[in-house]
Amino acid sequence: MLIPRIYLALQNGRVGHGTKVPRNINMERLRNGYLFSEICRRELEHTQKYPHAKLIKLGIGDTTEPIPDIITSAMAEHAHALSTIRGYRGYGAEQGNMELRNAIAQTFYRDMGIKANEVFVSDGAQCDISRIQMLLGSNVTVAVQDPSFPAYMDSSVIIGQSGNFKDETGKYENILYMNCGPESNFFPDLSNTPRTDIIFLCSPNNPTGHAASRQQLEQLVEFAKANGSIIIHDSAYAAYITDESPRSIFEIPGGREVAIEISSFSKFAGFTGVRLGWTVVPEELLYSNGFPVIKDYNRIVCTCFNGASSIAQAGGLACLSSDGYLAMNAVLDYYKENAKIIIDTFTSLGLKVYGGKNAPYMWVHFPGLRSWDVFNEILEKTHIITVPGTGFGPGGEGYIRVSAFGHRESVIEASRRLKNLLK
Ligand SMILES: Cc1ncc(COP(=O)(O)O)c(C=O)c1O
Repeated sequence: MLIPRIYLALQNGRVGHGTKVPRNINMERLRNGYLFSEICRRELEHTQKYPHAKLIKLGIGDTTEPIPDIITSAMAEHAHALSTIRGYRGYGAEQGNMELRNAIAQTFYRDMGIKANEVFVSDGAQCDISRIQMLLGSNVTVAVQDPSFPAYMDSSVIIGQSGNFKDETGKYENILYMNCGPESNFFPDLSNTPRTDIIFLCSPNNPTGHAASRQQLEQLVEFAKANGSIIIHDSAYAAYITDESPRSIFEIPGGREVAIEISSFSKFAGFTGVRLGWTVVPEELLYSNGFPVIKDYNRIVCTCFNGASSIAQAGGLACLSSDGYLAMNAVLDYYKENAKIIIDTFTSLGLKVYGGKNAPYMWVHFPGLRSWDVFNEILEKTHIITVPGTGFGPGGEGYIRVSAFGHRESVIEASRRLKNLLK
């Protein structure tokens, strides 16, 4: 086992024990590290190089503002009750507490015909993306937006839906990249999009910040229906929508027959660390053999998941109470104000800024420049972390993503530093 040992030594700077277990070929196909781990690595290098610099993080989309007390109190109360005979609870239903499933259906899907039993409460949208990939398996064809949130692509590769990564194109083989740049109004041009079994669509979109219009979503539902495809709609940022754009794919007539929706309390309620999300699988959604998708999803949830934390679910219920909902919206308004400051900053510097109106992300164009170069230059000169656009696919070249999550004074300071660098 000389070769694996040398390989390990080269990889990690230390020698390990080479087993006889082959590496999963799909893992071997994955390119580089996961985007956000790579950014963390560069951030660490930067802080080692500049230990006294005050780093401002407008990169990874992590919430920064405290969760309203009405919500944390409900979680604390639930946690305390666990230490009493009367209040103790062990495992709950894998699909989530029925009261919460009901509250989600009522709050987010009123008049859309979504029933509580179609809502599966989870520990977050990221985990649900992988559970959905497990549901779909390796034998389906997949389309993703380019640029898009990397978890769709990476989980497609891991489950075996893709071929190899091609350096020449910056793309994996056997995955359809649907260009979603400004020329197509950040939505796939369906008139020249080939059929795939699965279409991942994120709206409001991470990273471009674009919320699909009703007309765009109607076209997509029609397209999926005509092609017998399933849309996996990620609405993790729906709470940030300020205009008339639909907040759910199920607002669109026919959506129930062609779509699954993934969503989350993370960006809506600052639950990135608490962990709570949900997935809606409508009963009408059927496989080609007529079998209901919801039954298989239920099986996946019962096999791969044992239910979201009961404490997190108590928090989720509090978020959906009328006072909790109001309190959360005040936090969302704070981030939306941050977004305005960032948009004004880049716009005043003559740069084209997309997004920010319906999502906590700004997608800033640096024509003719490479996105990793822009990321490095901004980090080196201003100590601000952003995200290079190519981390979201080749369509992100020339862009950086800037997040509106941050304390106000940091956002104002970032604005000052950027104006100094780019004026
Ligand atoms: C589009 C999108 N979907 C899902 C997630 C993951 O959300 P969660 O924290 O619920 O796992 C993120 C996180 O940034 C996201 O941007």
